[in-house]
Amino acid sequence: MSQGSAWAWDPGQYRCNAGFVPELGEPLLRLLAPQPGERVLDLGCGDGVLTRRLADAGCVVVGVDASAEMVAAARALGLDARVMDGQRLTFQACFDAVFSNAALHWMTAPDEVLAGVFRALVPGGRVVGEFGGDGNVARIVAALHRALAARGIGGDCPWYFPTPSDYRARLEASGLEVDHIESFDRPTPLPGDVGGWLRTFGRPYLSRLPAGHRESCIAEIVEDLRDELCDEAGRWHADYVRLRFVARRPAGG
Ligand code: BEZ
Repeated sequence: MSQGSAWAWDPGQYRCNAGFVPELGEPLLRLLAPQPGERVLDLGCGDGVLTRRLADAGCVVVGVDASAEMVAAARALGLDARVMDGQRLTFQACFDAVFSNAALHWMTAPDEVLAGVFRALVPGGRVVGEFGGDGNVARIVAALHRALAARGIGGDCPWYFPTPSDYRARLEASGLEVDHIESFDRPTPLPGDVGGWLRTFGRPYLSRLPAGHRESCIAEIVEDLRDELCDEAGRWHADYVRLRFVARRPAGG
């Protein structure tokens, strides 16, 4: 789920503002179709809610996440969770499957990630993943850029949102065979206004501001986005685009 080095994640805040992330991971779990006894790596396991589901399905699961706070939350669910940067996976041919939900956009070195996934899989093993694709949260990103630019602050988008063709090429270059790849819009209802999303996920941007200026910036962005992301009944959604894929390490490779 997360890259942890730049700031501390707060699992309580995450559950409040982003409980939808594991809930919306259910279709991806079905695509993985985990079998009892399979060895599964949950790459970017976050607080372990979906990792727990894999364990409950009878899999032997290891979760990894770059955030020590999230790993502690996953361990509290009784899971084997480890602090590890997904761009430097250290596993060698020991998993039947790698699973990753809503995490790969935090890892801006995708070729390193995929090289580690290839190494981690046994020959014939599969990787099933979903994360932000090209155009993901484009309105939120644009509003963040506007708000920071108005304060004289620039900088790039900190997340990796590729097109299916870009990601297919990387999967293939890493030696994986692509069974399926698609990208689709998934407007995602938020539990409150977009301010909660920004407090939970927007820190790569908001940390460019002095701490005392962040809340006023969030309030400004909420108003900026109200017409675009809030309906007449006051329900907010985020403009998510998902990139979903299934690939495998060749049986002889
Ligand atoms: C996402 O799941 O699409 C996402 C979450 C946090 C930051 C950026 C994107």
